[in-house]
Amino acid sequence: MRKWLLWLGVALGLPALAQTGKLEIFSWWAGDEGPALEALIKLYKQKYPNVEVINATVTGGAGVNAKAVLKTRMLGGDPPDTFQVHAGQELIGTWVVADRMEDLSGLFRQEGWLTKFPKGLIDLLSYKGGVWSVPVNIHRSNVMWYIPENLKKWGVAPPKTWDEFLKTCQALKQKGLEAPLALGENWTQQHLWESVALGLLGAEGWNSLWSGKLKFNDPKAVQVWEVFGKVLECANKDAAGLSWQQAVDRVVQGQAAFNIMGDWAAGYMSTTLKLKPGEGFGWAPSPGTQGVFMMLSDSFGLPKGAKNRQNTINWLRLVGSLEGQDTFNPLKGSIAARLDSDPRKYNAYGQSAMKDWKMNRIVGSLVHGAVAPESFMSQFGTVMEIYLQGKNAKAAANAAQAIASQVGIGR
Ligand code: GAL
Repeated sequence: MRKWLLWLGVALGLPALAQTGKLEIFSWWAGDEGPALEALIKLYKQKYPNVEVINATVTGGAGVNAKAVLKTRMLGGDPPDTFQVHAGQELIGTWVVADRMEDLSGLFRQEGWLTKFPKGLIDLLSYKGGVWSVPVNIHRSNVMWYIPENLKKWGVAPPKTWDEFLKTCQALKQKGLEAPLALGENWTQQHLWESVALGLLGAEGWNSLWSGKLKFNDPKAVQVWEVFGKVLECANKDAAGLSWQQAVDRVVQGQAAFNIMGDWAAGYMSTTLKLKPGEGFGWAPSPGTQGVFMMLSDSFGLPKGAKNRQNTINWLRLVGSLEGQDTFNPLKGSIAARLDSDPRKYNAYGQSAMKDWKMNRIVGSLVHGAVAPESFMSQFGTVMEIYLQGKNAKAAANAAQAIASQVGIGR
C-alpha cells in the first residue's frame, strides 16, 4: 500500500483516500464476460486507490457454477463482501428469507435511488419493508441474434413467429445449413424455452404461469414443449458441450443462422469480437415476442458478516451511480437500470434496447431469477433433462407442474 498517499488523504480529510483494506467482489463475469466489471472496478480503484480489490470470479454462464460456490461460502460463514445476484426471487427467496443479507433501504434513501430506478424494479428488489440489493443493469432475455449479411446470402429474413421460424429453418436446411439454430449447454436451452413460451403464451399467459392461473400442464403449456421440441430439431446436436459464447460464435462464423440469447451476446459481439451493431450483427425480438421485453437485472448485495463492510458500501454506491452504470453497461450489452442514463454513451443496440424498455410490455425472466421462486428455478434444469431424454411434452409439463405445486406457485 502506498502509505504516503494514505497519510496525505487522512491529512487532507479525504475519506476516499483514507479508505484501506480489501474488497472481495464475487461474480460469474470471468474471461469474455469480464470487461464491463473490470471497467467498473477500475473506476472504484480510481476513487479508492488504497483498497485492494479481489475480483473473485467463477466461470460459467448464468452463474451455473458460481451459485453453488456462493452457497457453500454463505453456509460456511465465509461470505464474499458482495456478490452478483439477479434482482427478484433469486436473492429474496434464498439469502433474504434466510436472514443473511443487510437491508439496504437506508442506502437507497441516502442516494435518492428510490426515484432514480423504475418503481417496478424497486418492487422486485424489495421484501418485507427492506430493499435487498443494488441493480447495476437491465438485460433483455428474449433476443434473436443473426448476421445480416449471412441472412441476405441465404435469402431469408428474421422470422417473426415460431411458425415462421420453423419454415425458415427448413429452408435453410435445404440450402445445406445443418443446424440453423446455434444452441449451447443446458441453461441456454432453458433460456430458449422461456422465449418459446413467451412467444406462444404471450405476456399475459407467461405471467399467468407464475400467478398459478395457468397450470404448467395446461394444454397451452404442453404445446410450448411440443413447439420447443421442433425448434430443437433446428439446433446443433452437440449443444450440451457449448458455452453461450461458443453458440454465438457459430452464428458469427456462419455455421448457424440464429441464436436466442440475452443481450450479453451484444456485449460479447461488440466489446470482445468488435463487431458493429446493426452491420456486423443484427437482432430482433425472439419470434412472437414483438412488443414484449423479458427483463432481468444483475445486482449486488451486502451479506451480513461481510469482512469489509465500508468498502462494500462504497462499491454499492458506485454500482448504483450514474457514472458507474454508464461505465459498465455500454460494455456489457445491457442498459442502465437508472432512469437518467445518457443514451449517447450506448451503441445502436443499447439505444434500441432503451427504447423498447420504455415502450414495451415488461415481463420477468425465469432462468435469470426475476419471476420464479429460486426453488422452482433450481429444479427447472431437471425438467429440461426429462424433456431432452424422452422428448415427451406431457411428461415435462407434468414434472414442471409438480415442482410448481411443491414450491407453492399460485398459492
Ligand atoms: C446472466 C447474467 C448476465 C450474463 C449471463 C451469461 O444470468 O444476468 O449478466 O452474465 O448470465 O453468463
